[in-house]
Amino acid sequence: MNSLNPYATLHPFTYMPGFSTLTPQGFHHFNTYLTRGEGVWIYDQHDNRYIYATTAVPSVGLCNPYVTEKIAKQYETLHFASTCGQTHPLVEQLSQRLIELCGSPFGQVFYSNDGSGAIETAMRLARQYYLSLGQKKRTKFISLEGSYHGTTFGTGSVTHMGIAESFGPALMNCFAVPAPNMYRPPIDGTAEQIIQYCLDLLEETIFENGPDEIAAILIEPVQGVNGIIEIPKFYVQEVRRLASRYGILLIMDEVATGVGRTGGWILSHELEVQPDLLALSKGLTGGYFPMGATVVSSAISTQLFDSGGIFLHGSTQSGHPIGCSAALAVIQYLELNQLVEGVRSKGDYVISSLLNSLNDHPNVGNVRGKGMMFAIEFVADRISKTPVDYEFGQQLSARLHNQGILGNWFNGILILYPPLSATREELAFMVNGVVCAIVGK
Ligand SMILES: Cc1ncc(COP(=O)(O)O)c(C=O)c1O
Repeated sequence: MNSLNPYATLHPFTYMPGFSTLTPQGFHHFNTYLTRGEGVWIYDQHDNRYIYATTAVPSVGLCNPYVTEKIAKQYETLHFASTCGQTHPLVEQLSQRLIELCGSPFGQVFYSNDGSGAIETAMRLARQYYLSLGQKKRTKFISLEGSYHGTTFGTGSVTHMGIAESFGPALMNCFAVPAPNMYRPPIDGTAEQIIQYCLDLLEETIFENGPDEIAAILIEPVQGVNGIIEIPKFYVQEVRRLASRYGILLIMDEVATGVGRTGGWILSHELEVQPDLLALSKGLTGGYFPMGATVVSSAISTQLFDSGGIFLHGSTQSGHPIGCSAALAVIQYLELNQLVEGVRSKGDYVISSLLNSLNDHPNVGNVRGKGMMFAIEFVADRISKTPVDYEFGQQLSARLHNQGILGNWFNGILILYPPLSATREELAFMVNGVVCAIVGK
């Protein structure tokens, strides 16, 4: 257990991402102040140690020498090159590798600087694809309630979590449909009835807005920010079928699930669906460099580019050589250590251990997970599923902090994303700390 951290009793899970702690708002007091990392551990300024189970980014651990040495070499060889009218060997190698790992039907990769960039790129590619086919009316997007797709105006407009409203009107023509969330379903009924209800509403939404006016449907196959809500395989497969029937593209947002997090290189393989566009980011470079990738089907890239078309989109630093070397090193490390293959058994261990200890706790409404993504949803009452209040979250967050656990807290849900490299012992530390924090030991 950590020595008592003076900041732990404040608001350890309060986020104001992107702001410096030195802003006048004084966020220093509300954030954990991190100074160094090693493996699954991260340390604060008082040398308190925490297991790093937040963000889903560091898949191969922190400051992993296998990766940092390769990046350091790359810094000495070619620290920057643009991919606009130029290219470099690493961007080619990484694209080749990603196309191999993602498999059919992909043929090209476009790089951006984060997950939002990868989704924004997919949305723009979808629009341009239909313009190139003369289908000018296809400008609309449909996505699921509770899905998180990013921070730009485009990705924010397809994120239906009550965030866009705080910036005024979102982009037009972005429609939300209910998600088959099995813990908080949109209707009472069996799993089959809930899925069918969601599919019927999706088809209705397609019809109401014109099947020939929808550019793409976006799916986040495990809603991460919303609390590890796994979208059922049958639902995703039916969405694929509906999209194909009406000539709509399917964008799969694997920013969090991609590159191993759920036990395969992409979750789309396990779901047995072939998206037209696929977004990767967090585990792609494991946090060693900010990068996103949009993997594009051969059919789309052939239509767009083979007859000389250009995509007037891209950032100055797209396909950055350091990002490419980081991604290649992370993928190699995952392969050499067979970490992706180990995800399912580690995930099963965490879930069964949490359930063993917490199943009867009056405030634990639901324990769930997919691969190395875990959530515990807290409730004031298990029958009515009334959410816990703010104070409950504050107290639990402080206790987790004192147990050396750094996770995400959102809307009464604790979300944990330990690195894929975590050992059984390290996962046992996480489980034990979480259980102690909840049962109040
Ligand atoms: C599924 C999903 N899509 C997109 C994003 C946006 O990625 P970024 O924060 O890197 O822009 C996130 C970030 O949490 C995400 O979880």
